[in-house]
Order: sequence, then C-alpha cells, then structure tokens
Amino acid sequence: MSSPTLQALVYNLRHEATGIVSVELRPVAPATAFPVVEAGAHIDLHLGNGLVRSYSLTNPGESHRCVVAVLNDRHSRGGSRYVHEQLRVGQVIPIGAPRNHFRLQEDAPRSVLLAGGIGVTPVFAMFQRLAALHRPAHLIYCARSRAEAAFVGEIEALVRAHPMLSLHAHFDDEQGRPPQLLTLLDGHAADTHFYACGPAPMLEAYERACAQLGQGHVHLERFAAGAPVADTSAAVGYSVELRKSGKTVQVAPGVVLLDALLNAGVALDHSCREGVCGACETKVIAGDVEHRDLILTEQERAANKSMMICVSRCRAGHLVLDA
Ligand code: FES
Repeated sequence: MSSPTLQALVYNLRHEATGIVSVELRPVAPATAFPVVEAGAHIDLHLGNGLVRSYSLTNPGESHRCVVAVLNDRHSRGGSRYVHEQLRVGQVIPIGAPRNHFRLQEDAPRSVLLAGGIGVTPVFAMFQRLAALHRPAHLIYCARSRAEAAFVGEIEALVRAHPMLSLHAHFDDEQGRPPQLLTLLDGHAADTHFYACGPAPMLEAYERACAQLGQGHVHLERFAAGAPVADTSAAVGYSVELRKSGKTVQVAPGVVLLDALLNAGVALDHSCREGVCGACETKVIAGDVEHRDLILTEQERAANKSMMICVSRCRAGHLVLDA
C-alpha cells in the first residue's frame, strides 16, 4: 500500500560542493515534527514533475527538519536535475516517511565507514551519530577533488572535536591515483563493522577487499543498480492475492509485478524501479519468491518476509502479499 506522505516546506537550499546542493525541509505546520531522523535512513521526495526519488538524510537525531544532499548527476533521469534547476525555497512538496535499510550497529566496538562522492550523505549521518555516542569510528572519504567533497569541513571539525574519530581523505586529483581500498581497509579487528556507500565500482572493490580481509560485518548501500537490471518481468505467469485490499491479480509472463499491481488499481509506493531504494518493499505472507533486489541480505531473503516488487517476482503458482 502506498504510505502516507507529509507536506514539507523547502526551507533552505545550500551549495555544499561542486554540483551538490543540500535541501532542508521543515514541516509545513510549525507546531508539528517529522519522525526522528536515523543515521542511514532516506526519504522519498515527491518532485513536482511527477518523479519520486529517494535521498539519504544527513541530520541524525533531529525531528524539526529533514536534510538531504543531491548531486547534479549528468546521468539524471530527471530527479536530480529537477532539484538543481527547479526546486525553490518556499515550495511545498510531499515527502515519504523515512526508511532505513542501512542501519548502524550502534554498539559495535569499532566502525569503519567508506564514502565515495555523493555516497557521503548516509555515511556523514553515521559519523555524526557515532560521534554523539562516543564510539570509535574511522572514515575513509574518497572524492575526485576536495571541491567536489560535500561536508568535508564539517567532517574535519567532528574529528577535531572527538578524539575517538579519525579520517582518511583521498582526493584523486591530489593523490594522482584512485584509492587502494585493500590497504585502506586493512588492519581492523574482526569485530569491526564496515559500512560503504558510493559508486558501484567502488562498492564492488569494497566487497572484494572485505572478503579478502576476512571481515564478516560488511554493510553497504547502493544508490543505483550498477549494471542494467536484468529482466525482472515474470518468467511465468502467476497469481497474487492481496490480503489488505482483498484483490487477486494475475501477473502474465513478461510483466513486472509492480506494474501488474499498479495496472490493477492498487496504490503502491515505488521510486527507483531498480531494487535499490526500498520504496516498494512489500510484506510477503506466502509464496516462492525469486528475490532480485540489491537491498535484502541472504538471511532476509531466506526469511522471505518481504520483497521488492519492482524487481522481484514469484517463481510460479500463487503469491500472497500483505498489501
Ligand atoms: S522502487 Fe526502489 S526498490 Fe523498488
């Protein structure tokens, strides 16, 4: 089911780095508050051009505002271009409730955070949260140049103020080469938790390095599917029973589950359509699900409690959803 949206006032737009602006949103009604922002969480912005896009929040612990940072991506499918070129202070836009698929293990003895480019947004939130908790954390921040690195000044100030925090900043133009992740991630105890957000090639290198180093607590968040999403339409036809709405929908071969449900008039949240944002996550009651998203862990897939209906499908037969 589609989740309720909140009306948010665009309170401030701020230049954070070359090609990156932050968007500060406040509740339209002054006496109200948003849900408290968790480190790693993101929200959907319902942009005026009909697009819904997810952006990570940068201000953990606050409820009087939500702050996201948006890169003017030259591969934009419309969302970041709209934010950079058309969104204005004073505009009111609907936003979704925060979701968090990138949770911080707050009691970990040590955390290592890796940020690449605009991937710094959830990582910056985690770093602030770990600072507030007085937990040891090391941040590896990679960007093409210092001018393109959002929040670097705030991060350096956090490190100066909190002795349990440390930073390794890698700017390609200063170093003359890309970061050597295997070296940068080496030397941490087995109970360290690792987190990364950044471009797909960096995340692949991060996963390879963590596997090579034998690290077991490895978390990451993608903001786009690295390769084009493989065919996510139904390989064979199946039926879907929707418990809440009391409907049964037939999904024909070649049709994406999300599209079949939208076409049947079921209002459902969705955004990226690539299995990376979690907007379309739907509870599964029964059925043989072929999970094709990039969010759920192996354990979560095995538990079969939810699925991303934009990319995942039923292998055959009958699927029952709590929708
Ligand atoms: S719409 Fe983003 S995961 Fe399905």
